[in-house]
Parts: sequence; C-alpha cells; structure tokens
Amino acid sequence: MSEPPSPGIHVVTDSFADISAIIDGIVHVHASCILDDGTLATFLPPLSHSQLYQWWDQRVSEIGRGERQIIVSLSNVKDRTTEKDVSAPWNDEGRTWPVTRSTSSSIDQASPAPGTANSTETELEVSGVVSLATPFSQTGPFRGLVEKLFVSPLHRRRGIAKQMMAKLESVAMGLGRWSLMLDTVVGLEAERVYPRLGYEKVGFVKEYGYSPVDGRLVDEVWFWKDLRKMKRLEL
Ligand SMILES: CC(C)(COP(=O)(O)OP(=O)(O)OC[C@H]1O[C@@H](n2cnc3c(N)ncnc32)[C@H](O)[C@@H]1OP(=O)(O)O)[C@@H](O)C(=O)NCCC(=O)NCCS
Repeated sequence: MSEPPSPGIHVVTDSFADISAIIDGIVHVHASCILDDGTLATFLPPLSHSQLYQWWDQRVSEIGRGERQIIVSLSNVKDRTTEKDVSAPWNDEGRTWPVTRSTSSSIDQASPAPGTANSTETELEVSGVVSLATPFSQTGPFRGLVEKLFVSPLHRRRGIAKQMMAKLESVAMGLGRWSLMLDTVVGLEAERVYPRLGYEKVGFVKEYGYSPVDGRLVDEVWFWKDLRKMKRLEL
C-alpha cells in the first residue's frame, strides 16, 4: 500500500508514494553536495539530471534484491535552516528545488483528517539521504558500507545527518550488518562530522579520486564503527 509522504526519517521501500518525486529530491541534494561542497560522489560536473536520476533509480532497484537500504529525510519547506538563496543545481534549466505535498493529518495527529473541510496541504522536500550497501559476501555478511550521506544545504545543522545515521544503524543491526565503513575527502566538513557520530578514523588512501572542484586527485579518509561494541546513535 502507498504511504503518504510525511516529515521525518523514512526507510525507502517499494510502497513509497510517488517514488519518482523522492528520487528527484535525492538527485538535487546529491548534485548540490558535489557542486557546492566539493564532495567526491561518483559524478563530475557538468552534472546531468537524467544521468543522476538513472543512477539513483538503479540504487532503489537494489533495495528489492536485498543489496541496499536507503534512508531519506523529508522536511517542511518552511523549516529551511538558511535564509540564503541557495540556487538549485539545475536552476538554469528551469528546475527548482523539487517539492512534494502532504495533507496535514499525516503530519500532526491533532490536525483534521485528510479530505475534511479543514485539512491543509504542506509542502515537503527531501532534506537528506544516506544509503547502506549490503553486498553478498560469505566471508563478511556482517559488513555494510555507508554511502552517499548528503544533507540539503537548505536544512543543515539541525541533526538530520545524525537522525538518518541513527536510523541506518538500527536498520543495519537488524540485518546483522554490524561492521560499518564509510569515507570522505580529507579536509571536508564531513571529516569533522563522522567522529561526532562515533566513527573511528582508520586511515587514509592517497589520490583516491578526482575532485569535482578542480579535477585534481584528492586523498580520502576512512572511518569505521563496530555496532556491537561501540556506542550506537539513538533514534
Ligand atoms: C556532513 C553533513 C552530512 C552534515 O549534515 P548535518 O545534518 O548538517 O549534520 P548534523 O546537524 O546532524 O550534525 C551532526 C554532528 O556533526 C556536527 N557538525 C555538523 N556540521 C559540522 C561542520 N560543518 N563542522 C563541524 N561539525 C559539524 C554537529 O554539531 C553534530 O555534532 P553534535 O551532535 O556533537 O553537536 C552535511 O554538511 C553535508 O551534506 N555535507 C556535504 C556532503 C558530505 O560531505 N557528505 C559526507 C561525505 S560523502
């Protein structure tokens, strides 16, 4: 059954209402993290909306095969944390930040039921995403790779990354994937964020990938957490 969109942290499933709008939102957040933050995230500018969309569509199809989990955060447009005019990645092509709509009753239990005279619509947008790759492995069925942690520049510094990672850890434990690894470019903000989330720095890989900023080779730093032994994030 289709679930109506509501603000909060969600595990993406086949039953998501309007999955194409969710993917579109994810694609915009992904692109902005590449263009505005210099994140090493598979693609280099100039970014193609259709290429990123197709890529995420394939990642979503991995959910059904048990190879991946995707956690998404939906937020009210009115709750944006920045007053800055952060332009959408494909603004020049006429694509603004994608917005989906939700009825008030799915947000606030005290509100009137949808379809009633007093029900109202709320504008929601994808404010963050993170994914857990759970590849087949007989030698390491307990390992998971945390990939593509992105928070929209419109919704930073209010705990969305932390909440999504808490959900991811809970999902990972449920799947028996207790050894999590993740990586980021040396010197980016995320290098300071992962220790705050309880991840231990394990080492560096020199010249790991091409920077989207200037095409130069940049170094990557890897983190790790054993969810059985190290403090897990709380939902
Ligand atoms: C890194 C990123 C995901 C953080 O998202 P966020 O929702 O703003 O983070 P949160 O509000 O959940 O903060 C989590 C913790 O990190 C800290 N933190 C967040 N941004 C920080 C920054 N720029 N510098 C230092 N600490 C920071 C917070 O204070 C918090 O710690 P606390 O709970 O001890 O106070 C976001 O800035 C982002 O998407 N950056 C670009 C993409 C990227 O680098 N992704 C990761 C690698 S692929």
